[in-house]
Amino acid sequence: MSKERVNGELKINIGCGLSGIGGWQNLDNSPTIWISRIPVLTRLFKTPAWPPDVQHYDVRKGLPYADGSARYIYSSHAFEHFTPAESGAVAKDCCRVLAPHGILRIVVPDLELIVREYLADTSVLAAQTFLSRLSLNHSLQDFLHPGSNHSQMFDGKALVRLLRDAGFERVQVSSYRQSAIPEIDQIELDVRRHESLYVEAEK
Ligand SMILES: C[S@@+](CC[C@H](N)C(=O)[O-])C[C@H]1O[C@@H](n2cnc3c(N)ncnc32)[C@H](O)[C@@H]1O
Repeated sequence: MSKERVNGELKINIGCGLSGIGGWQNLDNSPTIWISRIPVLTRLFKTPAWPPDVQHYDVRKGLPYADGSARYIYSSHAFEHFTPAESGAVAKDCCRVLAPHGILRIVVPDLELIVREYLADTSVLAAQTFLSRLSLNHSLQDFLHPGSNHSQMFDGKALVRLLRDAGFERVQVSSYRQSAIPEIDQIELDVRRHESLYVEAEK
């Protein structure tokens, strides 16, 4: 990735879950964010403790930021929750919002790894384990929380292609915490390390 100066200053975390970090625009569309803001409902529904700086926002509506305003966009285990059409639209929107030379880093479950582990699994439950890891089932939960289940899975080729089609020129498969994002050690979760595909793109 180039060392060019980037003018955009925003840092955006798409589908941050409970792991949003300070100084970033932490976006997530879980309905439990609203519930967790009301103490009595939090106790009633035993909702997770969402950090106060996480904003409830569905990124499929378009990122609420000006063109060229962001320096970094990070997303871990969220793009597989979008349909192929939605993920293409969100990736294009990331390209719009990033300043020239801004960085988009996407982390997803690694389909190739899951398939390899299935093929190596000699147990009678291998097929069930495989299908449950894909998590492609849809249920009533999807109405309450759009994107609560997976809608697609990626291998490296597919994710690189998605970002090239979205307008990024330099796109490469990366690895755990190997990134042009300075705060990568704070934002990239160790717990995801052995199940993830990492791809980083520069505008
Ligand atoms: C599997 S969690 C990942 C959380 C965290 N980034 C991590 O790596 O552990 C996926 C998150 O994406 C969020 N999400 C799914 N669809 C979304 C959307 N359309 N807009 C914003 N967030 C979304 C979900 O609410 C959920 O918190």
